[in-house]
Amino acid sequence: MEGNAKVIETLNEVLAAEITAINQYFVHAKMCENWGYQLLYDDTEKRAFDEMKHAEKVIERILYLEGIPIITKQDKINIGKTVEEQVKNDYALEKGAIVRLQKSITLCNNLGDAGSSDLLEHILLDEEQHANDLESYLQQIKDMGINNFLVTQVNKKEKS
Ligand SMILES: [Fe+2]
Ligand SMILES: [Fe+2]
Repeated sequence: MEGNAKVIETLNEVLAAEITAINQYFVHAKMCENWGYQLLYDDTEKRAFDEMKHAEKVIERILYLEGIPIITKQDKINIGKTVEEQVKNDYALEKGAIVRLQKSITLCNNLGDAGSSDLLEHILLDEEQHANDLESYLQQIKDMGINNFLVTQVNKKEKS
């Protein structure tokens, strides 16, 4: 089904943001793994996979609308040198994604593309959950201090 060019354009912008998130989270996850913060690694890697699933859905939608998915564009990647910086940068990315998605949903609705709007709403709910999880980390860091927070993220494997 041939889609509206403006809808395809906004879907490609969402796709670029998803690709940015995949890359940023994957690098952050690997850094946490390298530092031995196993729980942060697990959570950040899972978030990267969520973004991958979003990218897949958006690509499928663009193809359905007979558009061309652009996978070579991405926004600026902000790699944090410390866990605290990483959490802050990831939170900023999610907040930016939420604003973009809300604008895109409005655009799709105004152009009468309920299917695209529905897909973006599902993605939006996931991003809100991501932002909420990161907000919890920021609150914990504020309340208990970064050192205590980091202790909670080391999950030493039980020796059998
Ligand atoms: Fe996403
Ligand atoms: Fe997200």
